[in-house]
Amino acid sequence: MLIDKHRAAIDTILAKYPAGHKRSAVMPLLFLAQSEYGHLSPEAMAEVGSLIGLEPTEVAGIVGFYTLYYDHPAGKRRVQICTDFPCALRGAEEFATHLCQKLGVKPGETTADGEWTVETVVCLAGCDKAPMFQVQDADGLHYHESAAPDQPQTVEQALAVLKSYTGKGA
Ligand code: FES
Repeated sequence: MLIDKHRAAIDTILAKYPAGHKRSAVMPLLFLAQSEYGHLSPEAMAEVGSLIGLEPTEVAGIVGFYTLYYDHPAGKRRVQICTDFPCALRGAEEFATHLCQKLGVKPGETTADGEWTVETVVCLAGCDKAPMFQVQDADGLHYHESAAPDQPQTVEQALAVLKSYTGKGA
């Protein structure tokens, strides 16, 4: 149970919200639960809801709304490639296709070793350094942008970046 393993962290989160407004702690508690379990199962959502007096359906509505919460299992880490319009103009779709081919997956799938789930996403607010992708792991989000407009991110560079997270071939 989250409360057994992370009582101090939960108390710290709840202390930031005044009495009568503990429900507002739902998002950091969901992040804590997701870090612990890898994704937010119905049981995890119910657990978070029970901490702050929210119904499981209310928690599920929040999980469903925000793209950084996940209600299904995936790889240990996610690589999320922006294929929105400005990035697409600089080859992001081709980049995503080639990276997926190198990893042996299609967008939305997880590599055979369980290390990476590859997703295409909309604007990550780095349009001036397109194409770009972000890595999401237990430590948070990490942006990887092209070094300069005339040096677009290559698949080989991206694979080297992914390898730096796992310590082994991506
Ligand atoms: S369109 Fe890709 S970062 Fe904005």
